Amino acid sequence: MQENAIAIIGVGYVGLPLALSLAKFHPRVFGYDLNSKRVSELNSGFDRNDNICNVVPSNLSFTAELVTIKEATTYIITVPTPIDEKRLPDLNPLRQACRDIAQVISKGDLVIVESTVYPGVTEDICGPLLQEESGLKQGKEFFLGYSPERINPGDDKNTLETVIKVVAAQDDKTLNRVKQIYEPVVKAGLFVASSIQTAEAAKIVENIQRDLNVALMNELAIIFDKMKIRTADVLEAAGTKWNFQKFTPGLVGGHCIGVDPYYLISKAESLGYYPELIRAARRLNNSLADYVSQKTLDLLAGSGVSIVDSRIGVLGLTFKENVSDLRNSQSPMIVNELKKYGAKVLAHDPYISDQGLLETHGIELTDWQDQKDLDAVLVLVPHDFYLKEKRLALFKTLKAGGIFIDVKSAFDRTLLGDNQQYWSL
Ligand SMILES: NC(=O)c1ccc[n+]([C@@H]2O[C@H](COP(=O)([O-])OP(=O)(O)OC[C@H]3O[C@@H](n4cnc5c(N)ncnc54)[C@H](O)[C@@H]3O)[C@@H](O)[C@H]2O)c1
Repeated sequence: MQENAIAIIGVGYVGLPLALSLAKFHPRVFGYDLNSKRVSELNSGFDRNDNICNVVPSNLSFTAELVTIKEATTYIITVPTPIDEKRLPDLNPLRQACRDIAQVISKGDLVIVESTVYPGVTEDICGPLLQEESGLKQGKEFFLGYSPERINPGDDKNTLETVIKVVAAQDDKTLNRVKQIYEPVVKAGLFVASSIQTAEAAKIVENIQRDLNVALMNELAIIFDKMKIRTADVLEAAGTKWNFQKFTPGLVGGHCIGVDPYYLISKAESLGYYPELIRAARRLNNSLADYVSQKTLDLLAGSGVSIVDSRIGVLGLTFKENVSDLRNSQSPMIVNELKKYGAKVLAHDPYISDQGLLETHGIELTDWQDQKDLDAVLVLVPHDFYLKEKRLALFKTLKAGGIFIDVKSAFDRTLLGDNQQYWSL
């Protein structure tokens, strides 16, 4: 069936590319967002997240007015699913989205959840809430689907079009409808999961698996550091075996890998099972900022530099390479820890243009030109700007005897001067 109009609820990192892609194949698409500033920016073709600067197609419009999206026959929810200060799932944005949709939904409409959730949320929380607030019966008068998002901001290769998309629905008829919505967009094809809960679980497992693998690499890196063996060299050697899985150590942040495991942990614990491995991986990955800060202080002290008033360049503050997303990034913690010991920290990130960090973390960014006469350079996130554009200039920012800390082993250490020290995780 042809959808009259599709409304995306929450047009952030996930919702915006989805709305733009759907608008290529469906006659009418709305992007609804509570944040009216974001709505007016998007209507003028400006995306502050990752500069997806587009002329907005005429069949796509962004709105903060619920009444505008009433003509939709399908609502796709892409609102955030964060954790609270106790690291428990915060489903408030999702609940709010359901309450809002319930005000405009009509008989026969379809609601698809794309936000990452633990198994059961779509059918046990969203469905009943939509039913209660709209007065319509779930499965008879409105229908539920789930399709997890696999978008990877900053990655031009693995996109909505090129990566297989998992879909699921509460019955076969609804499933066909869900498939018709996504099929034209996702050139790589769809995978039909056996149930909504299976699809919800699959998404969360993708991120947990990555969290665990990175945690293992981080643990190995800590052990090898004590033994003065370079982990990158070990992994290169081990990687020559046919079944060795290639992962690298590093800081884990963002809204997915650092958050989603807590959703399954919380659900498991509500069922009386206390996941040990998943929790251990989270603990280990959360401790890496402290490890890197302490290591920097040790290296400085070891090279005879007084930490008070030492000049340390900290490069890359976002949670990963080549994006402007700062959510749950561990870099600000490292900056503040070094500042606490009296170091003069010159924080820099080419992807962050505003001074929002000052309000959230008390960190003022510096210009690239200020990176000079440094006792240590810490490349926390090797953006292409550092790896390609400033690769050679970067080494010259260090004083003689300075320390180059390459957290992700992204640089060629042979480019360092003879009297400069190199360290990587
Ligand atoms: N960002 C990613 O790379 C990624 C990848 C896969 C899955 N996910 C999942 O997708 C979901 C969305 O993540 P995101 O990164 O796009 O979030 P985001 O913070 O970038 O965007 C969410 C948008 O939703 C809006 N919003 C919040 N509550 C709302 C409500 N009740 N009604 C309408 N709008 C609302 C916000 O104003 C914001 O613009 C999360 O569950 C996340 O885990 C994200």
